[in-house]
Order: sequence, then structure tokens, then C-alpha cells
Amino acid sequence: MNTITSGINLSDPAPHKEPERQYYFIEKAKEYVRKEAEEAGRPMTFCVTTFGCQMNARDSEKLRGILLEIGYEEASEEEADFVIFNTCTVRENANTRVYGRLGQLKSHKKKNPHMKIALCGCMMQEPEVVEKLRTSYRFVDLIFGTHNIYKFAELITAVYESGRMVIDIWKDTDKIVEDLPNDRKYSFKSGVNIMFGCNNFCSYCIVPYVRGRERSRKPEAIVREIERLVADGVTEVMLLGQNVNSYGKNLEEPLSFAELLQKIEQIEGLHRIRFMTSHPKDLSDELIEVMGKSKKICKHLHLPVQSGSSRILKKMNRHYTKEQYLELVDKIRAAVPDISLTTDIIVGFPGETEEDFLETLDIVRKVRYDSAFTFIYSKRTGTPAATMEDQVPEDVVKDRFDRLLKEVQTIAAEVCAVHEGTIQEVLVESVSDHDDHMVTGRLSNNILVHFQGDASMIGDYVNVKLDQCKGFYYIGEQV
Ligand code: 5AD
Ligand code: SF4
Repeated sequence: MNTITSGINLSDPAPHKEPERQYYFIEKAKEYVRKEAEEAGRPMTFCVTTFGCQMNARDSEKLRGILLEIGYEEASEEEADFVIFNTCTVRENANTRVYGRLGQLKSHKKKNPHMKIALCGCMMQEPEVVEKLRTSYRFVDLIFGTHNIYKFAELITAVYESGRMVIDIWKDTDKIVEDLPNDRKYSFKSGVNIMFGCNNFCSYCIVPYVRGRERSRKPEAIVREIERLVADGVTEVMLLGQNVNSYGKNLEEPLSFAELLQKIEQIEGLHRIRFMTSHPKDLSDELIEVMGKSKKICKHLHLPVQSGSSRILKKMNRHYTKEQYLELVDKIRAAVPDISLTTDIIVGFPGETEEDFLETLDIVRKVRYDSAFTFIYSKRTGTPAATMEDQVPEDVVKDRFDRLLKEVQTIAAEVCAVHEGTIQEVLVESVSDHDDHMVTGRLSNNILVHFQGDASMIGDYVNVKLDQCKGFYYIGEQV
């Protein structure tokens, strides 16, 4: 990376080529931040607040990478001079929370003349949101979307130079900019984007509208990134995409996700490979076979079912039936016997009857998930489901949600307990929040384990006897 920064002369015009252009703006922004810190007589500080999914978490690492690079230091949201919200819009309540938090920031900004407020992420891809911010939230300094996050340094420079609200939203893009800085939250594990966007248009989902069309990164770029991460101490990667099973379809030289996994498996020093999310309709036999044979792919599959009713699945535009999903589960379990399965379920999709809901309960009982994220259907303007008739009354949805949650939790506790007494490998992630003589780690199947240890063990693989199942986690002891 330093080869790109060396030789930058700020009196030259900005280069057009990426990522060189961004390294130029990083140098420029660095100058502005240095001057502002000098004026203030203290370092400038930042805070990145992330809403939503793992994709956003990874994007936030890129934002933090740039902010650190240009000379900001990390602080809490209350103290920070530069606050950025990386937003989510998958459900309405995510938007409501952002407006609430913004209100609080307004009063901070009145007290701190150095303060800058930025907003980015999925919510900013909705034109109504940007219009509302533009008119009623004038104290925001910078707004950008999901497609141009790589331009963060350039946009910060624009804020310093214009002194006005800077808005830069793109409708879509076919561009992927590689090799920009990022700052990982964990030293030993990392998310790795393998693709961006989604082409599935599930009828309830806003993601295809805010994240744009599917674009896959080239396999060489992915492998190179992982090799660098491994050289830097990472042993576990989480391959990220809205639908990883359709990876590679639109590459110049198409390559399947299963083939990509096999390439990644060969990277020496890499110990664990995870991925999410998988769409059931695209999960191939080839992938199941690769998972069955792999030494590194973790024994965990997140396979969102959304509903157990084939009638509702059709209205959701999911392209599979309840029976097909169950067959797929059987195939996966036959190939990877002790795999843990998790899922996402939506309750109260328009037109969902009690019979449809009972089908959902039934599929939960049949599959017996290790855990499930359950969501109340949220109407997203612009999606086909938003204008469907028979929106389900709130009290009915609430009742179904509670019944589903109870079922999911009961089964999850039973499923989790089957490992009691076994010895398994744990990757130690942190010192326990509740007790500093304990550490918390993760099994290959993603279950958390707490056992005696200290900070020096973080990042180590340790064999642990799983003594006691506590519902969805274990208490164990090192052997
Ligand atoms: N309402 C409720 N849940 C939703 N999800 C996506 N869109 C909606 C919506 N409009 C859920 C799906 C998806 C998960 C990430 O969020 O279950 O798998
Ligand atoms: Fe949304 Fe469906 Fe794409 Fe997932 S696969 S992001 S639920 S449209």
C-alpha cells in the first residue's frame, strides 16, 4: 500500500485512476485534519457506529481504516469530533433508530465547533431519506451511499473544502475498487467481501434496490486479500455476500462458489472458512460435496427459509417450496452429519394465514435449527409486498411471533445440548464480558464457549471439553 502513497504530490491534480486517486485524497485529508488538530490543540477523534448486517460491519472497517489513515483517533460517540453512522434499512425500525440518534448528535454539535456528522449505508440509497435529511437535518455534513464508500477520503476532503453539506449518492455501479486501507476489529479473524449487491428481488426485501445489481470480485483479488490477511495473523475468514451461492456467475471467466472455496482452502495458514448468506435456491450439489470434504470450511450453514408455507414462499419470490427446502436440508446433513443449521424467518408477510404460519412452525420442528433469527414483517416502500393486499393485523403478528420464538428457543436449547461432554476445538475471541478470568471462543459450528483463561489466549485454537450447555452457549474447560 505504501508504494501507492509514496510519490504523491498534492500540488499535482488528483489522478483519475483508482485506488491511486483515493490515496491522493487521503494525503490531502491528512493535511486538513492535521491543521484542525493544531487549531484545537488536541488530536481529532472519530466514532463509526454500525447498524445492520455483517456487510455493514465490514464496510465500517473500511471507514475506520480511512479515518485512522488521515489522522483521526478513535473515541466514543459522545466525545468524537467526526461521527459517522453506517446505516441499515432492511426493516423500518432501523431507520427510526437513526433519526433518533441524529437528534441527540445535534446538541453535541452545538457545543463542539470541530464536529462533523456523516451518514452512509443502505438507508441513504432511499431518495425520500436523503430529501428528509437535506431539508430537516441541515447539521449533517456528509451523506453518501453504498456504491461509493471507496471515495470516503475524497468526500471528507470535499467537506473540508466546501464547508457545506456534501451529498453523493449513486443509483448503481459496476465498479469494484480494490486495495484500500481498512482497520480490522479482530486481529485473528476477518470478513472478506466476495460479491456485492443482490439480483433476487424477494418481494419483501429492499436490499436489491439499495445495494444494486450483483457484482462478484475476481477470484485472484479475493485470494490475494486473504493471503495478506493470513500473513497479518488472520486464521479465520467469513466470506460475505447477499447470496454467495450465485458468486462468479457474471465474471468474465465464470467460476462457481464451490470452486472459489476450493481455491481458498489451499491458502496455507488459513484455518477456518465461514460464509454467508446462502440462498436455498442456488445451493448446489457441488457446494455440498465440497463442504463434506473440506478440512477448513466450518460446520455451520446459515440457510434463510423465511417461511414454511410454499404458498407464501411463492408470494415472497423465493423460488423453492417447503418440500424442496427440506430435501436440501437432508442432502446437506447426509454430506456433513454434524453441521449446525441456522436460519432467518419472517412472520406476518401479507396474506399469511394461521395455516401458513403452522407450516412455518412445522418446518422449524422438522429441521430443528441450532438457532433462528425471527423477524416481524416490515413494509418497505418500493418493494412488491408493500402494495400487496391482506397486510396481517399487528396483534395477530405479535401472537405468531411469540409462538415462533418459543418454539425456536426450545428446539435450539435441545440441539445445542447434544455436544455436552465432547471435546472440541475453540478459537478464543475475547476475555469474557462478565468475568475476566474467563475467555469466550467459538466452535466450528459457531456455538460460543466460555472457559477459564486470559487475554494472552486470544486468537489461539484450544481444545475444550464442553461441560455444561446453557441453552445457546457452553461452559467448558481446557483439556
Ligand atoms: N421485513 C422483515 N424482515 C426482513 N428481512 C428482509 N426484509 C425484511 C422485511 N421487509 C429479513 C430476512 C432476511 C434478513 C436479513 O432480514 O429474513 O433474511
Ligand atoms: Fe433480500 Fe432476498 Fe436478496 Fe436476501 S436474497 S438480500 S432477502 S432480496
